[in-house]
Amino acid sequence: MSSQFPEARPRRLRRSPELRSLFQETEFTLNDLVLPIFVEEEIDDFVPITSMPGVMRIPESKLAGEIERYARAGIKSVMTFGVSHHLDASGSDTWNERGLVSRMSAIAKDAVPEMIVMSDTCFCEYTDHGHCGVMHGSEVDNDRTLVNLGKQAVAAARAGADVIAPSAAMDGQVQAIRRALDEAGFSHIPIMAYSTKFASALYGPFREAGGSALKGDRKSYQMNPMNRREAVRESLLDEQEGADALMVKPAGAYLDIIRDIREASRLPVAAYQVSGEYAMIKFGAQAGAIDEARIVRETLGSIKRAGADLIFTYFAMDLALAGI
Ligand code: PBG
Ligand code: ZN
Repeated sequence: MSSQFPEARPRRLRRSPELRSLFQETEFTLNDLVLPIFVEEEIDDFVPITSMPGVMRIPESKLAGEIERYARAGIKSVMTFGVSHHLDASGSDTWNERGLVSRMSAIAKDAVPEMIVMSDTCFCEYTDHGHCGVMHGSEVDNDRTLVNLGKQAVAAARAGADVIAPSAAMDGQVQAIRRALDEAGFSHIPIMAYSTKFASALYGPFREAGGSALKGDRKSYQMNPMNRREAVRESLLDEQEGADALMVKPAGAYLDIIRDIREASRLPVAAYQVSGEYAMIKFGAQAGAIDEARIVRETLGSIKRAGADLIFTYFAMDLALAGI
């Protein structure tokens, strides 16, 4: 047939909302989302985080009620970040059995036993210098930090955490944590490795949220955002070390990396839509430049389409309340 008219007409499948949804390739539900939360000790009221409109630091005394509220809305999983008032050079509060890391997991699991509680496993919110480990001069001491990561992971598991999520970006952290967990009788607890963690400017608002003491940067341990091959290398190393799931962080500016890792590994892949991604959407919407509800669905859908099985996002509760 020779004519100036097309034979192939993809528009046929787009004619109605019903046809469009029938042929939609990618979807996400609340089963795919993890809500990161900030819990502060020794305060009585919620504290708004000005760089993340709509997100608050939760007083520890109100954590149980919040977890119940999330569960009622349909949230299946949270990731806990502590805002500590007990800082020291090594972040030792993190492995204290009565410290904030342990208390957050215990309170959350006690409030809603079915809630999957992931414990972010790092030190930057518990050290007086704000780095993700123990210092040796001006550098973070990798191997001394590994020992402490093992202790923190065991404390969190003992308190009831379901998943250990190490974000310190130390070499060998997955192996060190796996061994420590296994020796302490927690061979059943999975490790969600922040395997590809870029030294990103998109973490800016998180540092306010977590009350970070950091001066300087984390470029000697987090990855160079320009490196694609190295991202795959880091992820495969974590897989060899015994990671149960891999994570890419941030998400939206790194969709190529999510796809690479999806293709390089059979493990579940998670992606973290970080504080700066959240802030850009919120402030853009507040300025009237973009439609928040639509752009949230578009960005999260794109992260799934790139290959992520699950997504960490501060929008999880908004989506749950909206019925997704
Ligand atoms: C630190 C940590 C960071 C985030 C989670 N854990 C960032 C950092 O390197 O300061 C970022 C989360 C976000 O920006 O939403 N271990
Ligand atoms: Zn850290």
